[in-house]
Amino acid sequence: MSNRRDFMGMALGGFAALGGLGALYAAKRSWDPLPSVKSAGFTTIDLASAKENELVVEKWRGKPIFILKQPASTPKSDREIVINGARYLVQIALCTHLGCIPAFDGKNPEKQRFKCACHGGEYDSAGRQTFGPPPRPMDIPPFKIKGTSLVLGEEGPEYKKMLADGLTTKV
Ligand code: FES
Repeated sequence: MSNRRDFMGMALGGFAALGGLGALYAAKRSWDPLPSVKSAGFTTIDLASAKENELVVEKWRGKPIFILKQPASTPKSDREIVINGARYLVQIALCTHLGCIPAFDGKNPEKQRFKCACHGGEYDSAGRQTFGPPPRPMDIPPFKIKGTSLVLGEEGPEYKKMLADGLTTKV
């Protein structure tokens, strides 16, 4: 009888553990909506399934990164990265005033902007400071384009050109 009870206990425990794993997997999927691979200072993100005006938050060398596929209605900017004909805004998501993480306001794509709650700083749809104390645009992380993927941490020709044009500071 006790063997039977032990077996039932183990079976129920295993079932509960599987349920827990399922919930964890579902949570992980919602935190990390695009396929990405991290290795020794590099983060590779496949943008093939990215959706317009949906902010993706990634991590690169401990820093939060905002990736935003720009809707057609957003004004073009030389601070964007073009991959497969689609325009992306890729920024280190730290306010250039004192380093808070700005919030994304995506309700109005033409004016879409980032607001910093710490001291009221604001950035436009290209990540340029438009209001408050931030002294410069949000920084663009080193990147390289590989097919439909973005490799953060590698300095590709497009990134080097942005640096040479003074569109971002080197991090
Ligand atoms: S840290 Fe963002 S405005 Fe001060």
